[in-house]
Amino acid sequence: MKKIGILTAGGDCPGLNAAIRGVGKTAIVKYGMEVIGIADGFLGLINKEYFPLSEEMLSGILTEGGTILGTSREKPFKKKGHMTIDKPKLINDHYNELGLDCLVCIGGNGTMKTAARLAEEGLNIIGLPKTIDNDVWGTDQTFGFDSALGIATDAIDRLHSTANSHKRIMVIEIMGHNAGWLTLYAGMAGGGDVILIPELDYDMKAVNAYLLDRANKKKAYSIVVISEGIKHPKNKSAASYISDQIEEGTGLEARKTILGYIQRGGSPSPTDRILATRFGAAAVTLIAKEQYGRMVIKKGEKTKALPLSEVAGKLRLVPHNHSLIKKAHGLDICLGGKK
Ligand code: F6P
Repeated sequence: MKKIGILTAGGDCPGLNAAIRGVGKTAIVKYGMEVIGIADGFLGLINKEYFPLSEEMLSGILTEGGTILGTSREKPFKKKGHMTIDKPKLINDHYNELGLDCLVCIGGNGTMKTAARLAEEGLNIIGLPKTIDNDVWGTDQTFGFDSALGIATDAIDRLHSTANSHKRIMVIEIMGHNAGWLTLYAGMAGGGDVILIPELDYDMKAVNAYLLDRANKKKAYSIVVISEGIKHPKNKSAASYISDQIEEGTGLEARKTILGYIQRGGSPSPTDRILATRFGAAAVTLIAKEQYGRMVIKKGEKTKALPLSEVAGKLRLVPHNHSLIKKAHGLDICLGGKK
């Protein structure tokens, strides 16, 4: 009988509990495996904070936001000043002490990097890609993205009516770290007039000219959807910078909204519940076949796997020729460039 550990690491997102349930239930019910929940990401393996997960503990969590295991941004391989504790060694020791056959690491890019390093050190590892940023290389989609997209789109929808009442420009800042997926998709779904993403350089003069042109055409208001990761001075939020630049450059009234952690909270969308469940079940199939050192991915309608060594350290950004970018140009949406 195999014994497996599960941890969730990095920023949380909707769908983590669905994935934990997918791994845990498949492991217990289908394969009779023993499952250990590890608290707070890699910290739990460093500090020996773990507990057995029973089938009952996995019931009723599918729709819950957050993670029943807790998470942290602990990076055990990152050297900090004069480090006295050998964290990777502690992880290795405690993995062996627990008698684990495999460790399932649910996380984003940082987690996959750590997972790949642990696999290099000889641990049996399976990675599951999650993040609202959708920037994990190798998979068509991460779970968490679809839920965050719904929340961000709803927020933009709500800004339309208040923008119209006051004839204002509304700037909304969306998460995504250095990737523009969430901003581009929410911006398109929410009917944004200007969409600025980190992958495409913007020219403030062009953005302002576009907004003035709309005002001159008697369009009462404009919605400007921007990524937190676009170029801006570090002493200000991206939203503050852009709304200040708009007011100074156009004389029009602008207001800013930073959507923040609301995008990461609450119940996962049906799509994320399914994706996380599929990823979880696929992870256990790989474990049963002893195909370790891989990350589960979505390719079209299929669930597949890639070596962690191939995924680690890479970032999936929006390509400049992405079909939605082309569609946006066709709809006269301003992506930051000159018309
Ligand atoms: O990776 C998810 C994410 O929400 C990013 O979009 C954002 O840049 C970052 O995490 C925020 O990190 P933290 O939770 O550490 O504030």
